[in-house]
Amino acid sequence: MSDFIIVGGGGHARVVHDALETLGHRVTGYTDPDAKGHAKAPYLGTDAVLIGAPRSPVRDLVLGIGKVSTSPGRLGLLERLELSGYRFPVIHARGSIVHQEVMSGIGTVTMDGAVVVTGTRLGRACIVNTNATVDHDCRLGDNVHVATGAILCGGVSVGDNGMIGAGATLVHGVRVCADCVIGAGATVVRDIDQPGIYVGTPARRIK
Ligand SMILES: CC(C)(COP(=O)(O)OP(=O)(O)OC[C@H]1O[C@@H](n2cnc3c(N)ncnc32)[C@H](O)[C@@H]1OP(=O)(O)O)[C@@H](O)C(=O)NCCC(=O)NCCS
Repeated sequence: MSDFIIVGGGGHARVVHDALETLGHRVTGYTDPDAKGHAKAPYLGTDAVLIGAPRSPVRDLVLGIGKVSTSPGRLGLLERLELSGYRFPVIHARGSIVHQEVMSGIGTVTMDGAVVVTGTRLGRACIVNTNATVDHDCRLGDNVHVATGAILCGGVSVGDNGMIGAGATLVHGVRVCADCVIGAGATVVRDIDQPGIYVGTPARRIK
């Protein structure tokens, strides 16, 4: 059991909070630009209270910042906080299934109902959200969000900062380059090699 501070105070932070408590950890507070009224943990202030402030006795952090775009901001924050001496343990919610031969980068979380199958590598600061599936031998870069109910079939790769929308399906073996958003419910049936926003079945670029 460890003590954690959650970076972020919105909806994703509350889900992460529950995941930590279910695993037996304790949440001592959260940081955010504003006190968001996070129901269960004290507000500690902005991230500045972590960076350059007197050393907190709590060294384990988890990113509670959700992600719906390709902004690399979460990863930059993780890197700054890591340089300040904090750790970002990998968190697999008790209700997720993560096979033993899965490698996860620091700061990555898998939420309840997520399934991550053998041979897959998840980068740093990834989110495999509620009921999402990442099947065997996938490769996710850093700061990738696989949103609720999305399905990555075997051998799929997603580049850094990718956002795979809720319920999207990426068929076996497709490669999606860095900095892509795949819209909710889209079906990706061939490789995507240009950053952008893709929607529909088969997925097509709209921006
Ligand atoms: C794809 C997405 C990012 C587009 O957002 P946007 O850039 O603001 O685009 P807009 O809402 O302006 O839509 C542009 C066009 O694409 C269409 N569109 C948007 N999202 C779509 C989707 N998921 N599937 C099909 N068409 C979609 C819109 O209807 C619109 O069509 P029109 O020009 O004919 O009116 C967004 O709709 C989306 O699906 N985000 C994923 C959200 C998600 O899964 N969150 C999970 C949190 S756990």
